[in-house]
Amino acid sequence: MARNKVTVIGAGNVGATTAQRIAEAGLADVILVDIVEGLPQGKGLDLAEAAPVVGHDARVTGTNDYADTAGSDIVVVTSGIPRKPGMSRDELVATNAGIVKAVVEQAVTHSPNAILIVVTNPLDAMCHVAMQASGFPRERVLGMAGVLDSARFRTFIAQELGVSVEDTHAFVLGGHGDTMVPLPRYSTVAGVPITELMSPERVAALCARTANGGAEVVALLKTGSAFYAPAASTFEMVDAILRDRKRVLPCAVMLDGEFGTTGLFVGVPVVLGAGGMERVFEIKLTPDERVAFEASVAAVRDLVAGLPA
Ligand SMILES: NC(=O)c1ccc[n+]([C@@H]2O[C@H](COP(=O)([O-])OP(=O)(O)OC[C@H]3O[C@@H](n4cnc5c(N)ncnc54)[C@H](O)[C@@H]3O)[C@@H](O)[C@H]2O)c1
Repeated sequence: MARNKVTVIGAGNVGATTAQRIAEAGLADVILVDIVEGLPQGKGLDLAEAAPVVGHDARVTGTNDYADTAGSDIVVVTSGIPRKPGMSRDELVATNAGIVKAVVEQAVTHSPNAILIVVTNPLDAMCHVAMQASGFPRERVLGMAGVLDSARFRTFIAQELGVSVEDTHAFVLGGHGDTMVPLPRYSTVAGVPITELMSPERVAALCARTANGGAEVVALLKTGSAFYAPAASTFEMVDAILRDRKRVLPCAVMLDGEFGTTGLFVGVPVVLGAGGMERVFEIKLTPDERVAFEASVAAVRDLVAGLPA
């Protein structure tokens, strides 16, 4: 049986690191695509030359030609410009909408049955662009944000309480922006809600740090934005799909009545398997959580309304 094939568009920080993780796990052959000539070929060759040392047989190649991506099982879209210090994700919208539309149109021509994972920001709006450009059903268009936001929350919880990150679980809903909704009630250490383990002030501080998690890294780096944790999060989604794991992971998906919302990409927990988004995993929200979720939905709606026609 042939290995799975994953195309990663954008051979920059997030794309190349995602390609590395997929290849090093031996999960799939990886095709890196970029608009810059030589960049994906160079990184692809470099990653391929690491294989004998790391010990995997996945093939990694780079190209500027979408014909080489034909028959991909998954297409990860990371092409676009990242944030600079002081910029919000939303300021990227016009430039990245054009890029995402162009790359998705080309990719789906060659891989009509692929599952799309969008990473480019502003995430929720770019998912809309990708869905429109692909014509794919909602099950096959997913946005990566919630896994990353939850990972950040888990990191902060583990650091605060001096426990292993492995024993933490965190829930973050809503758009991938300043209005994201960390849910402390569903965020646990070994099954115990963090609301029972720390003061309301500390819970609020960790939630605020989570919502600001991307900007914190951008401010430190000064050029570019986070990519190790984003790539690890993207890998987790690819792994769940290719190995049909039925993982319950927060992803941006087009809601169709779930959580009282229709026709918008919003981050919610979903079951991820071979079919892509197999089911929205609906949970009950308290009135306060509902208000925060609605505010986040409204922010996504505004962003989508501002997309270039
Ligand atoms: N969803 C998330 O949680 C999350 C997390 C981190 C980064 N991001 C976003 O991911 C994107 C990539 O971030 P990065 O740090 O890898 O940026 P980067 O600048 O390192 O890489 C982007 C790559 O895209 C390429 N590119 C631009 N236009 C292209 C086109 N038309 N076709 C093919 N390739 C093209 C560039 O040449 C570059 O190599 C940004 O929009 C960033 O904001 C999202």
